[in-house]
Amino acid sequence: MKITVVGAGGNVGSAVALAIAQRDFAQEVVAVDIQVTRDGRTLEPAKGRALDQWQTSPLHLFDTYLHGTTGYEATAGSDVCVITAGVPRGPGMSRDDLLETNAGIVKGVAEQLARHSPDTVIVVVSNPLDAMTYVAYRTSGLPPERVVGMAGVLDTARYRAFLAQELNISPKDVQALILGGHGDSMVPLPRYTTVSGIPVTQLIAKDRLDEIIRRTRFGGGEFVEIMGMSAWYAPGAATAQMVEAIALDQNRILPCSAWVTGQYGLENLFVGVPVKLGRGGIREIVEIELDADERKLLETSANDVRNTFEALNRLMGL
Ligand code: LAC
Repeated sequence: MKITVVGAGGNVGSAVALAIAQRDFAQEVVAVDIQVTRDGRTLEPAKGRALDQWQTSPLHLFDTYLHGTTGYEATAGSDVCVITAGVPRGPGMSRDDLLETNAGIVKGVAEQLARHSPDTVIVVVSNPLDAMTYVAYRTSGLPPERVVGMAGVLDTARYRAFLAQELNISPKDVQALILGGHGDSMVPLPRYTTVSGIPVTQLIAKDRLDEIIRRTRFGGGEFVEIMGMSAWYAPGAATAQMVEAIALDQNRILPCSAWVTGQYGLENLFVGVPVKLGRGGIREIVEIELDADERKLLETSANDVRNTFEALNRLMGL
């Protein structure tokens, strides 16, 4: 199994690469990033980080060989490719502020990846997430089931962690589902949130649950406020879980950004929905029953995503 991670000189990309290696299912992780020039010297951050990470293999006990590069030749024949390339959020910036810059970057990367690995599945992590997944889909030429965005797994991980803390229980026992775009209007679904099968609505008072949902929605922004930049450990771990599901054909049901074709009354859009993820990417979009309020929240979130797609169409003519 060969996995490529583009943007692996950065915090999110390198966290993805290490989290994949620690799961110990891939033979090889190719870490790609551009050269940077500092103090007149040409440096290769992805190469350095991958070397450092590979040297943890005797300590973390994995067999995966991590190595870095600045080109795409070494990525040829990758089973799964992850795109984390792009500029991250800074203070005062929303994910959408990154639209134009990152669209150009993701386009260049997706074209290269598809050229070198025509049978690959691309997992997009760059922000604004749903829009960048669309860019990768349109510019890679891959079929829609082989392009998927990472957002819901991260957002539900945050939601599950907050719930576990609130209830003073193991995070392992919290199951949850979040629909919609990877933005502040994402839709956590309390009706589909359980603790070892017990509906969470029976365990937490509504006002506390509402507060946890609010914190989850702004979960990415919380880091920008605390440390002036985005998170990387949870995004890395969430992406690695998706990559493993695809590489090992696990048919896991995970919330991912997927190309919808009428499901939930939505079409021509990448948006967060539960999917069955296995070899070849998205096997199926799972449609669950929503009540009128949930449907309205999803519609609002989908409209926010649609606005970024329209901006993209104006910018790039996609
Ligand atoms: C976050 C960024 C990665 O949610 O979107 O942390």
